[in-house]
Amino acid sequence: MTVQPRWRVDGIAKVTGAAQFGADFMLERLAYGVPVLSTIAKGRVRRFDLHDARSVRGLIEIITPSNALRLPNQGIHPELKDAPRIAMLQDDGVYYSGQVIGLAVAESLEAAQEAASLVKAEYRSEDALCDFEAQVASARPPQSGGDAAAYARGDFAAALSRSDVEVQAMYSTPVQHHNPMEPHATIAHWEGDRLTLYEPSQWIVFVRTCIAVWFGVPEANIRVLGPFVGGGFGGKGALWSHSPLAVMASKMLQRPVKIALNRREVYTVTASRPRTQQKVLIGATKAGELLAIRNDVVLQASPQIELIEDSGTVSHHLYKCDANATSHRVAILDTSPTWVMRAPGEATGSYALESAVDEVAYRVGIDPLELRLRNYAEKDQTNEKPYSQKLLRDCYTLGAKRFGWEHRPHAPRSMRKGNQWIGWGMATATYPAYRAASSAVVRISPDGKAFVGSATHEIGTGTYTVLAQIAAEELGISIDQIDVRTGDTELPPAIYSGGSLTVATVGTAVQLAAQRVKQLVIQMAVDDPASPLHQSEPAQIKVSEGELILDRNGARERYADILGRQGGRTVEATAEAKPGQEIERYSTHSFGAVFAEVGVDPDLFTVRVRRFVGVYDVGRVINKKAGINQLTGGAVWGIGMALFEGAQMDPRYGRSVNMDLSEYHLPAHADIGEMDISVLDVPDLKFNPLGARGMGEMGITGAAAAVANAVFHATGIRIRDLPITIDKLIERSSNHSQ
Ligand code: MOS
Repeated sequence: MTVQPRWRVDGIAKVTGAAQFGADFMLERLAYGVPVLSTIAKGRVRRFDLHDARSVRGLIEIITPSNALRLPNQGIHPELKDAPRIAMLQDDGVYYSGQVIGLAVAESLEAAQEAASLVKAEYRSEDALCDFEAQVASARPPQSGGDAAAYARGDFAAALSRSDVEVQAMYSTPVQHHNPMEPHATIAHWEGDRLTLYEPSQWIVFVRTCIAVWFGVPEANIRVLGPFVGGGFGGKGALWSHSPLAVMASKMLQRPVKIALNRREVYTVTASRPRTQQKVLIGATKAGELLAIRNDVVLQASPQIELIEDSGTVSHHLYKCDANATSHRVAILDTSPTWVMRAPGEATGSYALESAVDEVAYRVGIDPLELRLRNYAEKDQTNEKPYSQKLLRDCYTLGAKRFGWEHRPHAPRSMRKGNQWIGWGMATATYPAYRAASSAVVRISPDGKAFVGSATHEIGTGTYTVLAQIAAEELGISIDQIDVRTGDTELPPAIYSGGSLTVATVGTAVQLAAQRVKQLVIQMAVDDPASPLHQSEPAQIKVSEGELILDRNGARERYADILGRQGGRTVEATAEAKPGQEIERYSTHSFGAVFAEVGVDPDLFTVRVRRFVGVYDVGRVINKKAGINQLTGGAVWGIGMALFEGAQMDPRYGRSVNMDLSEYHLPAHADIGEMDISVLDVPDLKFNPLGARGMGEMGITGAAAAVANAVFHATGIRIRDLPITIDKLIERSSNHSQ
C-alpha cells in the first residue's frame, strides 16, 4: 500500500481535545445521573430511605424500582439472545454486589454524587455464592452451549498410554478488568419520540437494537453516536445498566441525561474477564512428539450471562497432535458478570497451553523452540483444512534471531547478570482471523474530495486512518482529501468492532465501494465528449493523485473537472462485504512467536521484563505504525497479565477489594523493558481481497506464557497461578523442589 506507515488522521483532534468521546458532548439543560450500587451480594431491597438524599440542592429525581419507567421488554429477547441481563430498575432484586439499584439525577455531577451517596437501602439478604474455589466442584456446562464447550478427536487414552512422559498441571488466571482509558459513559436525549444516544461503543447498531427492544420504540427513531471510543477491549461490546437508565431518565425528566461511570463503577456495572482454572494434560514421546493434549477448563460466570471464553480452543490446532480434547464448564457466582476481554479464550488459553508445552520441553530435555518446530501443524486438524496462510516458522526463526535464542542454556537458573538471575522464555501467539458482513458508503464530491462512511467504530485502533488509506489507494486521491466518518447509526450498518475483524470486514466494504465509485466516474469521463478520456477503454484508466489517467498515452483529467461538468453532482456507491469462500476452503488464523527475558532478584524475588521480542504474521498490515502500536500494547498487556493484574475477590462480600487503578495493577512504563515488535507483512490474499487478517488481539496471546516460562528459566520455580507475584515466588523458594 502506497501510504503506510502513517500518523493517525485523527491524531491532532485527539491530542488537542477536539475529538468528542462519550462524555464530552455538551447539551443544553444536561442533567447528570449517578448510580446507586448495591452493597450486598444477593437478596432484595426492602425499603429505600431517600430523606437525606432528597434534601440535596440541585437534585432533580431519584429513580428506584418504585418509580422507574416500566419497560415493555427486558432481559432475554430473541434478538438479544447473547446480551447479558442487566439491571434496569424493573424489580427490587439484588443479584450481585455493585449492581445498580437506583439512580440520582441532578443539575450537577456533584449534586448527583452527593444524593446517590445519601440513598440508604434496607435489604433482605440471601446467601450468595461468591467463592470460586468452592463453586468449582459444582461447575457445569454452560447453558448457552456452543461448539467450543466440549471437543474431542482421536483416541485419547490410547495416545496417552503410548506416551513416555505426561505433564499434568493446573493453571489459573484471575478475574481481569478491561480498563479502557475512557470509562463507560452515555448521554441520552429524547426530543419528542426520537432518541439520540451518545455512546462510546464497539457496536452502535446493536446498541440501537437493544434500546429499541427494551423501550418498545422503532429503531428508526433512535440515532446512536460514538465517533470516538477510548478503548473497549470487549467491555464496550454490550450494553450495561447505565445506558438504558440514561435513556429512561431522559424520557422521565424530558431533558438530556448523562451518566459517566467512574473506574470503580465500571468494575461492577459493566463486566470483566472470567477467572479460569485450566487442567492441562499432555502426553509426549521422549523425542518430544506431542501425542495427546487436553485442557479441561472451569470459568467463572454469573446468572446474568453464561458466556464462555473458550480457553481450550487454542489447543485444538496449535500443534500437530492426533488426540485432543477439551471441555468448558462454568462456576456460577453471585458476582458482577463476566464477559469477553481482548483475545477471549486465546489470552488465557495460550498461557496454559504454552506453559504446559514448556514443561514438556524440560521433561524431555529438548529446547522449547525446537520442541515446537517438531510439532509444527501444517494443517488445521480440527477440520483438516489448510491454513489460508501460516508463516509461523518464519516468525520462530526471525524472532529467535532477533532475540539471540541460540545462546540460551537449557538448564533453569543458569544465567546471571550482576546479582540478577536471568531467564529466557518463549511461546507461540495465535488468534483466529474473522470476517463478517458490514457495509460502507464512498462519495466523491464535485471538488474532487472523497467521503467514506460506515457505522463502524474508532476504538483506538486507527480505524479512521486505515479506512482513509484503503479509500486513498483505490481512488487515487490523497489521504488528506478524504473525510472518514464512523460511529453514527445513520451510516451504512457495520458489525461489532471486536474479534480483530474491522479491517478485514469494514476495510473490504470500503475497498468495494471505492472501486464502484471509481468505475462510475470513469464511465462518466468515457461517455463525455468534453473529456480527454472520451471513448477510451475503462479498463485502461488508472487513478493517481486525484486524476484519471489513460495508460496508453497519458491522457488525463481530474475527478473535480469530470464531476464539475455534471452540474455539481456527487457520485456515490454503497457496498456490503461478507465472508467469502475462504470459510469453506481454509482455516484462517494469525500466528506469532514471542520471546521474553526476565531478571529476577534472588533475595527479593522482584521480576522485571528486560526485553521482549515478538514477530507476527497477521497478513498484510495496512498501517504499520498503528499496527505495531496495537501489537505492542497487547504484549504489554500480556506482561501485565503475567506479573501484575488480578481482581482480589473477598468471598464474604462478593466484591473485589482492589477496585481502582491504584490497587489493580497495570504495567507502568518502568515495568516494561525493551520492546522489539515486528510483522512479516505478507498479504494473505486467500483470506480476503485486502490480504489483512487483523491484529488487535494477537499481541496479548502467548505473551504471558513467554514471561512465565522466562521466570521458570530464571528461577527454577514454576508458578501456575497468575499473576506471578513476589509472595508466590518467595513461598515456593522456601520449599523449593521445582
Ligand atoms: Mo474483543 S473481546 O473481540 O472486543
